[in-house]
Amino acid sequence: MKPIGLVDGKIIDISENIVSMEDRGHQFGDGVYEVTKVYNGHCFALQPHMDRLYRSLRELAIPAVYTFEELTEFHELLIKESGIMDAAIYLQITRGVSPRTHSFPENVVPRLTMSIRPSSAAIDKNKAEGCKAMLIPDERWLRCDIKSLNLLGNVLGKQKAKSAGCWEGIQVRDGIVTEGTSSNFFVVKDDVVWTHPKCNLILTGVTRTLVIEKIASDLGIVVVEKKFDEAFVKSAQEAFISGTSTEITPIVTLNNQPVGSGSVGPVTRKIQKEYWTLIDKECQRK
Ligand code: PDD
Repeated sequence: MKPIGLVDGKIIDISENIVSMEDRGHQFGDGVYEVTKVYNGHCFALQPHMDRLYRSLRELAIPAVYTFEELTEFHELLIKESGIMDAAIYLQITRGVSPRTHSFPENVVPRLTMSIRPSSAAIDKNKAEGCKAMLIPDERWLRCDIKSLNLLGNVLGKQKAKSAGCWEGIQVRDGIVTEGTSSNFFVVKDDVVWTHPKCNLILTGVTRTLVIEKIASDLGIVVVEKKFDEAFVKSAQEAFISGTSTEITPIVTLNNQPVGSGSVGPVTRKIQKEYWTLIDKECQRK
């Protein structure tokens, strides 16, 4: 069981130096990525992750040079070769390698790199007991719907939250609460679940879509995709974040104030349990 990498279909040692000086991902952040979880040796929700990858590529006019079948095969190869059954697989595609110039170079071939690492158990406590979060300014660009390699706004936001002893920073743009630095954000108020609408200001999370279209609908929980402000969040009874690694993580304190009762709320817990049931089914996990 050891972390390994894959470059354009070939397995490599993760410590191998394979990034070219003139890779546009390295120089401009000119590329896209996905993170997919592996449970019990099976990728969870691979299809929606790859659908979003192809959309990100289209939005940036990066040619898609791998089919869905090839990408599936590469995920399976990484699981098989590493022997890691509970993992996170990181995939990135850059526009390719070319002498540095801002505009798109001609005849450049996109570069695929992937890696597999064991899932981190460090965040399990947050999932069980809830985490601390804080509101921070959303300083990102205006195409947060693209899962691009340009994550400086997210990185700085996460660090600001971490320095204040919080697990996640919940971003606020023009008074409206958008999403976490690496997660989508939800609040529960009077039994209704609220989250920011799908648009250029947030990433359409695969987990978010499952919560809205599958879990809440199966459980008969009403979700509204509408904008809300900080005051609304402060009056909510529950809050949680969703994401591939985060899964469903309750937020129990926001800006050092308890959210609702200050412990994990019943609606969040139901959604979290149902998310785990979906994983159990799809990944044949006992
Ligand atoms: N982050 N919003 C942002 C800004 C994210 O970076 C992520 C995921 C999400 C949740 O998306 P999904 O449910 O598809 O994972 C929302 C990944 C995991 C990361 O950057 O590591």
